[in-house]
Amino acid sequence: MKNTIKTIGVLTSGGDAPGMNAAIRAVVRCAKFYQLNVFGIYEGYQGLIEDSIKPLDARSVKNILSRGGTVLKSSRSEGFKTKAGREKAYNNLKKYGIDALVIIGGNGTFTGGMYFSEEFDLPVMGLPGTIDNDLHGTDFTIGFDSASNVVVDAVDKIRDTAESHNRLFFVEVMGRDSGFIALHTGLASGALDVVLPEESQPMEDLLFELQKGEDNQKTNKLIIVSEGNKLGSTMEIAEAVRQKFPHLESKVTILGHLQRGGAPTCSDRILASHLGVAAVESLRQGRTKEMVGMINGKITFTPFQEAIAQQSRIDEELIRISKILST
Ligand code: F6P
Repeated sequence: MKNTIKTIGVLTSGGDAPGMNAAIRAVVRCAKFYQLNVFGIYEGYQGLIEDSIKPLDARSVKNILSRGGTVLKSSRSEGFKTKAGREKAYNNLKKYGIDALVIIGGNGTFTGGMYFSEEFDLPVMGLPGTIDNDLHGTDFTIGFDSASNVVVDAVDKIRDTAESHNRLFFVEVMGRDSGFIALHTGLASGALDVVLPEESQPMEDLLFELQKGEDNQKTNKLIIVSEGNKLGSTMEIAEAVRQKFPHLESKVTILGHLQRGGAPTCSDRILASHLGVAAVESLRQGRTKEMVGMINGKITFTPFQEAIAQQSRIDEELIRISKILST
């Protein structure tokens, strides 16, 4: 079933990520290059259910390459989790003659896309758009580099004030189930320790690293805490540390949604452009139910089921290097 696709729909779903706009632009412009019709579906799967669908052309996506967020808007749709919601969505697609979809998002987006594609025999390809970097089948997801740079910039600033007051700082970063942002930014910003969701690290390990910092006369101490860690909330962790090191003045900074905003980095724009073109071309080649990713600079295709498999991809070597360098 090659080259039978005439009309593509594109949507962004789940948490927005810098670079999603670059991906939308790539999908739209590539589809136009092949003289396909393109429709933008607004507010993710919810917009598909509610018929929030508009035609797009090459000019509709001008000046969005450098913008954060998603011009198509996003949502986490409860309705799409139901068969009735998906039926409504499919009827809307039919109304516009949309015969294939490009979905940009993370785990939840691909889970929805997988069911939808199977139920209605609709070609669907996915682009990894999430700051969490928690998808199999790509070295990096669109948005991860941008979010990491935001975090590193923030932590560098926190270090200035931490050093001035000889303080200990706990900086909470995003990553519900994945410690990529914490580990990468911890290494890049010289953190004393990182607390990751993938590790069953006892509190004693953290206290040990802090004691080492004390023994080595570190004047500022930065701990990066991933929000999904197993030790507890960042406030609770900070409190437990205060009990053991009452003489250390400690502060907590929660970076929150700041991490999802701002212009995408050059790397994210290039990744999104590359993957967006590959998504359209792969649909034309008859591919479906796969995530387009990039591994070692090469385009790869991973079935949705495998892309969302919840296994840790954390690089143990990075943890080892962080420990060596934080002394
Ligand atoms: O999945 C991306 C992400 O930013 C997670 O890191 C975070 O836990 C979650 O989204 C926050 O979601 P929301 O914006 O819906 O609160």
